[in-house]
Amino acid sequence: MERIRSSPPSVAAWSLPDLARAAIEARSKGRAGPPDDPHSRPAAQPACSNSSSGGPDVPESLDTQPVSAEPLWRLGTAYFSRKVTLTAAELGVFTVLADGPLTAEQLRIRLELHPRGVPDFLDALVALGMLERDGDRYRNTPLSDHFLNEKRPSYVGAFLSAADARWDRLADALRTGEPQNRWGAGPQMFTEQYRTTAAWRNFTAGMDYLNGMIGPPVAEAFDWTSVDSVVDVGGARGNLVAALLRRHPHLKAGVFDLPGVEPVFIEHMTQLGIADRVTFHAGDFFTVPMPAADVLILSHVLHDWALQERQALVSRAFDALAPGGRLMVIDPMIDDDRRGTAGALLTSLNMLMVTPHGAEYTAAEARDWLTEAGFTGITAVPIGVHNTLLSGVRPA
Ligand SMILES: C[S@@+](CC[C@H](N)C(=O)[O-])C[C@H]1O[C@@H](n2cnc3c(N)ncnc32)[C@H](O)[C@@H]1O
Repeated sequence: MERIRSSPPSVAAWSLPDLARAAIEARSKGRAGPPDDPHSRPAAQPACSNSSSGGPDVPESLDTQPVSAEPLWRLGTAYFSRKVTLTAAELGVFTVLADGPLTAEQLRIRLELHPRGVPDFLDALVALGMLERDGDRYRNTPLSDHFLNEKRPSYVGAFLSAADARWDRLADALRTGEPQNRWGAGPQMFTEQYRTTAAWRNFTAGMDYLNGMIGPPVAEAFDWTSVDSVVDVGGARGNLVAALLRRHPHLKAGVFDLPGVEPVFIEHMTQLGIADRVTFHAGDFFTVPMPAADVLILSHVLHDWALQERQALVSRAFDALAPGGRLMVIDPMIDDDRRGTAGALLTSLNMLMVTPHGAEYTAAEARDWLTEAGFTGITAVPIGVHNTLLSGVRPA
C-alpha cells in the first residue's frame, strides 16, 4: 500500500525538538503552535477566556517566561498509544497475525478496514513495540502475541478494554464514591461478579498479567531455601506460586481461593505442567481457616477490602501460621508523603473504580496491622512495578 504524505504530520508526530523549534517560529510569526497545526490559534485570540471583556484574565507579555506544555502534552496524548493498542486487539490484529505475517493490504482485507488509516495504524503499532515489520510484512512481537492474541490463555485484551471503558466514568466515581462496575459490596463481591468459568478465566488472566511482574522478583527477594511450604491466599489461578516453583522447585505450593476459581486453576496449572505440584484449597478466607504453611502470601488482596477486613485477614493469617512462619503482603503501597508514588496512587483510584471500599495504603499502615496481629521482624522492600513486599514473622 502506497504511503502518501501530502500534508505535514499531526502534532502528535512532531518530535520534541521539532515542537520547540516550531513554537519559537510560531511566536515570531504570532502563531501559538506548530505550522499547520489545526489546534493553533492566533496568539492574540485565546481559544478560551472567561473574561467579560473577551481578553485574558491574566495578560501575558513577551516578558513572561512561557510555561512549557510538554508534560501536559505527554499526559494529554498518552491515551493515543493505549487506544491504538486496545483497538488493534479489539479488531483482531494480533489474533490474525498469530497465524503468520501479512502485508498491510492482506491484513486490511482480512479485518475489513478502510485503506486510509491502515499504514499509520500498523506502523504506529510497530513504533509502540506491538508489531514487527520485516520488509512489507507485519508480525506480532512476543509481548503482543502473549497478551493480545485471543487464542492464548494469557489474552488480556477484554480485561484491559473493560478497564479502559470503566475509567471513562472516573468523574462519576469521584462524585458518588461508588465503584463503576457490577460488583456487589461485602465478602460476596467476587462471587457476584464472576458467576461463570469464562468470567473467572478472563479475570484471572488479568491478574496473571499483573502478578507476572511480581512473581519472579518475589522468588529472588527472599531466601526460600529454608522454606518448605507456601500458600498463596487469594492466589487466583496459581500464577504467582508457579513463578516461585520455577525458581525453587523444592517448594510445596498451594493456592487458597474461592471454589469458583478451581476449574481455571486446574486449567492453568495443567497448561504449565505443574498440576500435580500445586494444591488448591477451596474456601472463603473470611470464614474458612487458612491452610497451614511456612509462608502465606496475600498478594493484591488486602487492597480489595475495607480496613476491618484487611485486619481480619492479617489476623487469620497469623492464626494459620506456626511459630516462625512468615506472612508476605504485596500491594502497590503509597509512600508516606503521598506524592512520590504516582503508580500506587493511580492504582488506588482504580480500586475506587472496582471495589466498594478498596484502596492502596502505605507500608506504615500495613506494618501497624501486622504488629497489631502479633507479627515481628517486619520488613518492606520495593518489588516489581510499583509494588511493595512487606513481611513479618509469627514469633516462636
Ligand atoms: C485482586 S485478586 C488477586 C489475585 C492474586 N493474588 C494476584 O496477586 O494476582 C483477589 C483474589 O482474591 C480472591 N478472593 C476474593 N474473595 C475471596 C474470599 N472471600 N475467599 C477466598 N479468596 C477470595 C479472588 O478470587 C482473587 O483471586
